[in-house]
Amino acid sequence: MPGTVIVGTQWGDEGKGKVVDLLAEDAEMVVRFQGGNNAGHTIVRDGEEFKFHLIPSGILYPGRTCVIGNGVVVDPSVLIDELESLRRRGIDVGGLRLSANAHLIMPYHVLLDTAGEARLGKLEIGTTKRGIGPCYADKSARLGIRVQDLLDAKILRKKIAAALEPKKQLLRPYERDPRIDLHAMTEEYLRYGHRLEPHITDTSRLCWEALDAGKQVIFEGAQATLLDLDHGTYPFVTSSNPVAGAACVGAGVGPTDIDEVWGVCKAYTTRVGAGPFPTELSDEVGAHMADRGHEVGTTTGRARRCGWLDLVALRYASRLNTLTALAITKLDVLSGLDRLRVAVRYRGAEGAVFDEFPYHQSILHTAEPEYEEVPGFGEDITGARTESELPPEARDYLALISETTGVPIRLVGVGPGRDQVVTMAAAP
Ligand code: IMP
Repeated sequence: MPGTVIVGTQWGDEGKGKVVDLLAEDAEMVVRFQGGNNAGHTIVRDGEEFKFHLIPSGILYPGRTCVIGNGVVVDPSVLIDELESLRRRGIDVGGLRLSANAHLIMPYHVLLDTAGEARLGKLEIGTTKRGIGPCYADKSARLGIRVQDLLDAKILRKKIAAALEPKKQLLRPYERDPRIDLHAMTEEYLRYGHRLEPHITDTSRLCWEALDAGKQVIFEGAQATLLDLDHGTYPFVTSSNPVAGAACVGAGVGPTDIDEVWGVCKAYTTRVGAGPFPTELSDEVGAHMADRGHEVGTTTGRARRCGWLDLVALRYASRLNTLTALAITKLDVLSGLDRLRVAVRYRGAEGAVFDEFPYHQSILHTAEPEYEEVPGFGEDITGARTESELPPEARDYLALISETTGVPIRLVGVGPGRDQVVTMAAAP
C-alpha cells in the first residue's frame, strides 16, 4: 500500500495526528497537501508533548522525509518557529522538504482574515484568523506569492506590490501598520527565504521517486470532509479541499498513486467555529464529552462544540473519500454514559426524511437528527489493547459504525498516549 491518504471525516480535530504518527513508523515519507497553520495537532511521545501546525508529525522519526506540498499555504514565520522549537528539543529537522510552489501567507492575509470576520459580524465563519482564506483567494486570483519567490528579491518585491494594489481600499485602516510596509515586508520575507532555502525543492518529484520505488508515502490531510470548500457545510468551511481527492492535486501525484484512504472519526462529534451541527448537544452529555475529551482547540484555544456521532454525515464522508478503512478515536471518552446515540437519518422542518446528507444548507440548518440508541459502557477502557479487551457494548457500538458505513475499522483510540490504541482484527 505505497500511497495512503489520511483524512478527517467530520469537522476536524478527529485525532488525525495520532493516526499519522502511528502509520508513519513504517513509511518513507509523510506529505501535507492542503491547509496551513489553521491545523494543529498534539503528539504525546514518551510522556513529552509536541504541538504541530505545519510540519508533518513524521518528523519525530529519524530519517523520515516530511513534505509540505504545493497545496499547503505556508506562514513562513510559523514554520521557522516550529523548526527552531524542534531543533531546541534535539529533533533532527533535516528531513523537511518545502514545495517551491506552495503559496505564502503574508501579513496582509492575516489582517484581511480578521477584518473580514469583523465585517461579517453575527454571520462570521469563526475562522482561525491565520490568513488562510485570503491566501487561497490570492492563489486563485493569481496574485499569490509562492515559496520560490523568496529566492529572488526583485521578483518578490514586484509580486508583493502587485498583490497589495487591489487591496488598497480594504487595507486602508492598516495604512501605517509597519507589518504591511512594502519594503519591510520584502526584507522580512527575504530573510525567511534565506532561512528556509535548504528545505525548498520540487516536492512532487520526491513523492514520485518514493512511490516508484514502492516505498510507503502517507498523505496527511488537515481539517476534514465537512469543512471542505466544495463538499462541506459552505460557507462555514475552510478555503481548501480536505477530501482525499485533493491529495493528488496538493502533492502533485496521480489518482492511481493512491492505494488506501483512511478516514479518522471521533467516537462522537465536535466542531469549532460557526455552522450547522445537527447532533450538537447543549446538555450534560455534551459537557461530559467536552470535559472528558479535553475539547479545546490546539490552534486557537477555543472550546469545541460537542454532540453525538452522526452516521448520516459519516456515510457521506465515507463515499466522498472512498474510504478503505476507518480509525475511530477517543472511544474512552464515552465510557460512563448509560446510553449512546448515533444519528441515522435527519428529519426536515416539513417532516421530510433525509437518509443522505442533504445538499441544501437551509435543510441542514434546521434538520433534526433521528437517533438509534444503544447501551453504553461503564468500564474504563484506556488499558484495552485488543478487541477482546473492550466491553461488548463498545464492540457493538463499533460494529454499528462499521456496518452503517460499510467501512472496516482498523484502529480504535482509547486514550491520548501513543500506545493507547486497539488494533482491530483484519476486516473480512
Ligand atoms: P479557516 O480555515 O481559518 O479559514 O477557518 C474556517 C473554518 O474551519 C472555521 O470554522 C474553523 O474553526 C475551521 N477550522 C480550520 N482549521 C481547523 C482545524 O484544524 N480543526 C477544526 N476546525 C478547523
